[in-house]
Amino acid sequence: MCGIIGYIGKRQASPILLDGLRRLEYRGYDSAGMALSNGHGLEVIRRAGRIENLRKAVAEINPRGEVGISHTRWATHGAPTDANAHPHKDESGKLAVVHNGVIENYQQLRDWLKGEGHTFSSETDTEVLAHLIGFEYDGSTETDPIQRLVGAVQTALPRVKGTYGIAVIHEDAPSVIVGARLGSPLVVGLGEGEHYLASDVSAIVTHTKDVVYLNDYDVVTISRTGYDVQHVEGGAARVTVSRVDFTEDEAEKGDFPHFMLKEIYEQPNSIRNAIRGRLSKDEGTAILGGLQMTQQELRQVDRIILSACGTACHAGMVGEYLIESLARIPTEVEIASEFRYRNVPTTKDTLQIVISQSGETIDTLAALREAKRKGLKCLGIVNNVASTIARETDGGIYIHAGPEIGVAATKSFTSQVAVMTLLGLLFGRIHHLSSTDGLELIDELEAIPDKISQILAQADHIKQIAEKYAHVEGMLFMGRLNNYPVALEGALKMKEISYIYASGHPSAELKHGVIALVKPELPSVFIAPHDAVFEKNISNIEEVKARKGPVIAVATEGHPNIEKVADDVIYIPRCPSSLSPLLTVIPLQLLSYYVAVARGCDVDKPRNLAKSVTVE
Ligand code: F6R
Repeated sequence: MCGIIGYIGKRQASPILLDGLRRLEYRGYDSAGMALSNGHGLEVIRRAGRIENLRKAVAEINPRGEVGISHTRWATHGAPTDANAHPHKDESGKLAVVHNGVIENYQQLRDWLKGEGHTFSSETDTEVLAHLIGFEYDGSTETDPIQRLVGAVQTALPRVKGTYGIAVIHEDAPSVIVGARLGSPLVVGLGEGEHYLASDVSAIVTHTKDVVYLNDYDVVTISRTGYDVQHVEGGAARVTVSRVDFTEDEAEKGDFPHFMLKEIYEQPNSIRNAIRGRLSKDEGTAILGGLQMTQQELRQVDRIILSACGTACHAGMVGEYLIESLARIPTEVEIASEFRYRNVPTTKDTLQIVISQSGETIDTLAALREAKRKGLKCLGIVNNVASTIARETDGGIYIHAGPEIGVAATKSFTSQVAVMTLLGLLFGRIHHLSSTDGLELIDELEAIPDKISQILAQADHIKQIAEKYAHVEGMLFMGRLNNYPVALEGALKMKEISYIYASGHPSAELKHGVIALVKPELPSVFIAPHDAVFEKNISNIEEVKARKGPVIAVATEGHPNIEKVADDVIYIPRCPSSLSPLLTVIPLQLLSYYVAVARGCDVDKPRNLAKSVTVE
């Protein structure tokens, strides 16, 4: 949430900052701004609204400077206005800060600073941080201003409660940018005679692939020629240079109108990447070296807790079905934001698995830390290999889905489900699953990518259905067993990108209350593949039809009878019921996408949302 990019080098900073902000826009897009240092003071430009507004202002003003910091905002404190946009200056006006995260004690600090004679021009917590660092900056001595700036950051930050990823510049020290992190990601990009600071590598990947991911409590100073990382309390910090493993093309839309559509279409490949090299046909099992667990440790696991948020949580719910049915290990899903404040009973052999595309979701990270505090073994199912969750887990499985930029998660869901199938298979084979059953599952899993391609080939048909229903005010999504989480996911997708109110339910729950909503203007989407509860789903569809509710059904090919009860049908290829969520979710992703497009919504940047939720 929120994006930061800073640049120091020999080139004009503003085009580099604008390009970086464009790549980070999915992290927040309600206002944007930049501060440039050119040896004659700081120039700050801020605009409410999309980055395009900032771009126009920069084009008019043409600010000069080879050092700059910039920010695209997802508002936490204060409305999205010019005044609340970052960067914020301190009392002297000589220091500017951009910030991701939340300063929880900002009100106390603000009151105290007011008592010290400071005046504020915004409602943000970030301005308080700028004033606090400015307060600690000693401008009265002749000592090195760079040391004084770093010292001010190191003195100010321990007074702050909350999370931050920051970049700071000061008029007196125009040859450096100082950054720091606690709970919000920050990465240093290494170049020749230039350096970068960003909240996400996608902002800088066109310029450099060599990066240093900062850890919590790091304070970094970047200059044209180098960088220095210290602990916030002083002393050198541990530094590892990493090589970014994706190309700039992966982070571009290419010929697709939206990232979301591109990522929906990437799913045959992203699933192949998730399972590649992880299947043993000889043994009918999965090979998951990244778990860092011995056979003995795996065999001892007697309970699994899956923790995640949003779409990742829905993937976890599918995982619960998979692991329980394949391995018979009691598994439950705990919404990460609840788990962190609950006292969930665990056994000494409980395994905690957190699931996160970004690896930075603050609630999921907090659930992980809570589980570690309780002594649980913790694994991660993560996409972003350089993320905090990836680093803090004891082991795990990378989903290798490539960058997911569309705010609405799509390919990460199917890849998470695919790797949980592998996990279920591995645990199953350690317990009672036969090698024949294991091999059969492997063959079926390997066939999934081509089956997804067959569904994608029906995009025009799904688009027509979407256009037929695009005007409605609400939608119900129904599914049973492992397709109940898919119903939740379909409803979430519909809500977040088309702003149509939607809710997901187990189909049979309909008659316990939800059916009161059914009317001709409210369509219901039934996920009804040919499985053990197919007939039951048909009865539920009949109940809706009897009340004149329109029905869209997602069904398995070869069962055309469903056309007698449903108004519109989208067929998926046959597959074992345990794997059907990998297929049934695809039409729902496309349906929400085309509904959103038909309603003129900004699919990749839905209202009020941002990707990678790094605030609580
Ligand atoms: C929905 C969506 C969110 C995320 C959730 C968790 O489309 O994108 O619900 O799934 O914020 O994000 P990660 O997986 O990054 O932890």
